[in-house]
Amino acid sequence: MTTILWLHGFPLSSAVFEPQRAIAARHVMPDLPGFGTEPPPAPTCTIDDYARFAVGQLDRAGVQQAVLAGLSMGGYVALSVLRLAPERVSGLILIDTRETADSEDARRGRFESIETVNRDGVAPVVESMLPKMLTADAPPDMRESVRRLMMSSTSKGAAAALHAMATRADSSALLPRIAVPALVIAGEDDRVTPPADAERMAAAIPRSTLVLIPGAAHLSNVEQPTILNGAVERWLERHSMD
Ligand code: MLT
Repeated sequence: MTTILWLHGFPLSSAVFEPQRAIAARHVMPDLPGFGTEPPPAPTCTIDDYARFAVGQLDRAGVQQAVLAGLSMGGYVALSVLRLAPERVSGLILIDTRETADSEDARRGRFESIETVNRDGVAPVVESMLPKMLTADAPPDMRESVRRLMMSSTSKGAAAALHAMATRADSSALLPRIAVPALVIAGEDDRVTPPADAERMAAAIPRSTLVLIPGAAHLSNVEQPTILNGAVERWLERHSMD
């Protein structure tokens, strides 16, 4: 049976992938350092540090090769694993993410957010991100549970992740060299990593399939789990990645 290593986004935890447990596969769903049950990393944490942690999770699970499924920041981590340890990757699922590094403006914003988080906690960052996570039509209880999940992040964990995202490498040159099958997914209403990002990545990765999900914003796996899970299962059936 295929193993999928799920890498969550910011500021979330592995709990964001609960709806994906219904997918017929073996799931490894770690919290990244500083989120969920994992203690915070150094404030100078990098995406490559998360990638080494992710490979360590495969070792712990006794898995030689897995499909990596990265949601947003988790996609940055998945691309880093592909760079550092391609022999551990049998397939790639990129969900609401992008391959490019931050612009200068975005990087400046991240460092401002680090100061905000260190001074005021995660609430201001959560409140500014929450409206972009789900569409305006999402049920209130879904929005509330995403808010709770984001608010459960610690300042230290969030600040370290902001540093990691701000300093991440540009992975554009990696995409044409990806030899494994890739499934690129985006919510049609994602304003954080818009469908144009997914279209660009799918065009650059040789063996890729693009799926745009209607009625979903940035957390397409939470908002439309039936559509997303179905797309993953059909893609798994088409490729042999055990
Ligand atoms: C995420 O959802 O992981 C973050 O919004 C990604 C980012 O800010 O680049």
